[in-house]
Amino acid sequence: MVKGYRMPDGFLWGGAVAAHQLEGAWDVDGKGVSIADVMLAGKNGVPREVTDTVLPDGNYPNHRGIDFYHTYPADFKLMKELGLKAFRTSIAWTRIFPNGDETEPNEAGLAYYDALIDEMLANGIEPVLTLSHFEIPYHLVTEYGGWRNRQLITFFERFARVVFERFGDRVKYWMTFNEINNQTSWMDPHPMLQNSGLKDYDEADAEELMYLASHHELVASALVTKAAHEINPNIQVGDMIAMNPVYPATSKPEDIMMAERAMQARYFWGDVHALGQYPNWLRKYWEHKGFDIDVTPEDEAILAANTVDYVAFSYYMSWTVTDTGDEWLAYNEESNHGDNPFLQKSDWGWQIDPVGVRWAMNWMWDRWHKPMFIVENGFGAYDKLEADGSVHDDYRIAYFQGHIEAMERAVVLDGIPLIGYLPWSGIDIVSASTGEMLKRYGFIYVDLDDMGQGSGERYRKDSFKWYQQVIASNGEDL
Ligand code: BG6
Repeated sequence: MVKGYRMPDGFLWGGAVAAHQLEGAWDVDGKGVSIADVMLAGKNGVPREVTDTVLPDGNYPNHRGIDFYHTYPADFKLMKELGLKAFRTSIAWTRIFPNGDETEPNEAGLAYYDALIDEMLANGIEPVLTLSHFEIPYHLVTEYGGWRNRQLITFFERFARVVFERFGDRVKYWMTFNEINNQTSWMDPHPMLQNSGLKDYDEADAEELMYLASHHELVASALVTKAAHEINPNIQVGDMIAMNPVYPATSKPEDIMMAERAMQARYFWGDVHALGQYPNWLRKYWEHKGFDIDVTPEDEAILAANTVDYVAFSYYMSWTVTDTGDEWLAYNEESNHGDNPFLQKSDWGWQIDPVGVRWAMNWMWDRWHKPMFIVENGFGAYDKLEADGSVHDDYRIAYFQGHIEAMERAVVLDGIPLIGYLPWSGIDIVSASTGEMLKRYGFIYVDLDDMGQGSGERYRKDSFKWYQQVIASNGEDL
């Protein structure tokens, strides 16, 4: 056992998931088709293929999830036993507005989340909700071109208002767009579709399109923050960013300069959300590239007046970057990266860097001065279910010990306000990047494989008992 620091009273220890990765029931009770519903299963190192329509014989893992749509009462009992104080999930947009552009919501979808939220509360678990977690209605992609189209702002605001009005009395913490900054990797079609519903574009236009779509999302995020505060002043709205610190590969000043730009490029979404304006370097860069981003004076006023209440972030790994000699410091997330010789990797090549949690929290606090919320952190691994129903995931415990320790130092030694810690994913679910079930993150094992075969039974892993004790000691017994 490792001795940690006690967290402040009321600290939200929890878990986090997203609707499309565990609910299944993809076409039930009026739900429409989301982008996750047209993604076939990939594999470690094999990208997920996107189909134009749902193919009858395709292996779509998100259609099944872990059947949480039906099993949530029993699953929340297990989470109560685990000791969770909070649980983050998302509202599948397509359960509320099946195509995204309707004017009236689907009552069956609202009723489902009513029941889900009440069940959490009955188990003493505070719900934390994401509005858009890689679940854009597919109709908005095929008919409107995704977030490149300004009309999506209206559709998203309508959706957000409906769910704030319905659930805002019971749900305090909300976030707008999950890992909005993943699209820094605009050279990869996967985040372009997941984040912004961008598909069927000319590769040469990808970077500009990404900035345009992001701008629409940022305006939508600000409008939704405004709406939340009007509807219920108790609601707190956060942005949600994927925090992967980017370090210089060496102490060469050019590498340090490049790493600074990499951080600016990955986190300008955070600047706009928290500071209400675009950074100068980015305006200059757009000008240099000849990008036409359509930032109107009205948009600027909306952004400035409606900054977020807190900064939510995921943390899994860190990266290193090397200078390319480009005087505009153009950052290419595919080609500028290298390995960090001081760090180990997971089986999926994610570099394990606990110290980076403390580093990142300090970096964000100094920049944005907003309370923070860790809403994802975890270790994707192949687990083995033993004949007696046990799972010995000591590697996951070791990962969490290091990361929680670094987080606690940031809170206790550096004085950074942190609302809570919601590790990914509490219970095993479908991986977002690969569609695998076998890339497992949970404290609870789910007996299903990549083809959806298995009993679906739940089992407590060794990490279940360990996390129980972490929560019970408020972070002291790691
Ligand atoms: C984050 C996402 O990128 O990381 C989650 O918000 C995702 O949806 C998690 O599941 C882990 O990534 P993956 O690809 O291993 O599931």
